[in-house]
Amino acid sequence: MHPAGDRRFSVRHLLDPPALQGTFAEDVRRGLSAEPKFLQPKYFYDALGSHLFEAICELPEYYLTGAERQILATQGDAIAAALPSPVRAVELGSGSAVKTRHLLAAILRRQGSLTFVPLDISPGVLERSARELVEAYPGLRVEALAADFDGGLRALAEDGAGRRAGEHLAILFLGSTIGNLDPPAARRLLHRVRSLLDPGDVFLLGTDLKKDERILLPAYDDALGVTAAFNKNLLLRINRELGGDFDLDRFAHRVRYDRRRGRIEMHLESLVDQTVRLRQLDFSVRFAAGETIHTESSYKYDSEQIADLARRTGFRPAGAWYDRDRRFAVSLLETAGVDKLPA
Ligand code: SAH
Ligand code: TRP
Repeated sequence: MHPAGDRRFSVRHLLDPPALQGTFAEDVRRGLSAEPKFLQPKYFYDALGSHLFEAICELPEYYLTGAERQILATQGDAIAAALPSPVRAVELGSGSAVKTRHLLAAILRRQGSLTFVPLDISPGVLERSARELVEAYPGLRVEALAADFDGGLRALAEDGAGRRAGEHLAILFLGSTIGNLDPPAARRLLHRVRSLLDPGDVFLLGTDLKKDERILLPAYDDALGVTAAFNKNLLLRINRELGGDFDLDRFAHRVRYDRRRGRIEMHLESLVDQTVRLRQLDFSVRFAAGETIHTESSYKYDSEQIADLARRTGFRPAGAWYDRDRRFAVSLLETAGVDKLPA
């Protein structure tokens, strides 16, 4: 590793493996005891899951990554020009941060040096991306935070996101990850982000836009089966970490679009009547043939919904950039008064 790069790079670990293991066990028990059954999407991102997600981003059907990359690559300078200066950038759920690079490069063209604080629940990917970033950009410092949104936002609130005097904050939430939160949870998250910001600071939000199901469905049900593998990896993780005996061949990846809610749903459908045992939990769970576990939603937004979400959480929509086909939006939200507390 490049020594100069090392000095510009740190990772703070807020994930405590034993505690996490306990929460995972409790969350799985709760989700599989519920009616209908569900599992939380944050558990997708173990080491293998994170690699599978990166593979999803390469799929022709998964247009989101390409669309957002196009926005950041071709309009990065305009976006950077709309940010306060000097700015410190925090990214929630940064993953590989490959698209973010375009924006970081544009900010560096304006201000010469920049501190970037990527926050992610997947430590391996976080560490790799942090190293690659400092290697690629001499003016960049990376202060990575291995944390979930909850713990990470709490830590950022405690130390003011590490900001120096005179520095403004830009908090980035890209990749349509907001879509994986249901509307009340999305409002709670934005409200917490808002409470970290001072007047003049900004929030930059990437959202997938509502569109024809013929485009939406294949993005979550690709021909190669990578998304199916990503979804089923959750069962593999339960088998490994909780002593489960899920037979992956007895579950199928299912995707549907709920038009009324404007959300894609991913499920794992039991193909037969079966009982699955989770040894470490001393717990058995029965599945009827056709019964599903809801593993994730991905809400699709329109401009009004983005503006409504912003206004309800203390923001004012201050600009938006779109890809050529208007599939995806990157919206700039400025701080404003709170009209109404989130539900
Ligand atoms: N921003 C990247 C990755 C999006 S995938 C992109 O646009 O391609 C969602 C990312 O958020 C993953 O890297 C995942 O590890 C992270 N993540 C998911 N749930 C999280 C949580 N509860 N807390 C912190 N990070 C989370
Ligand atoms: N934020 C991404 C999205 O909703 C996450 C994602 C993409 C995803 N493909 C997925 C999550 C497949 C689970 C399964 O588009």
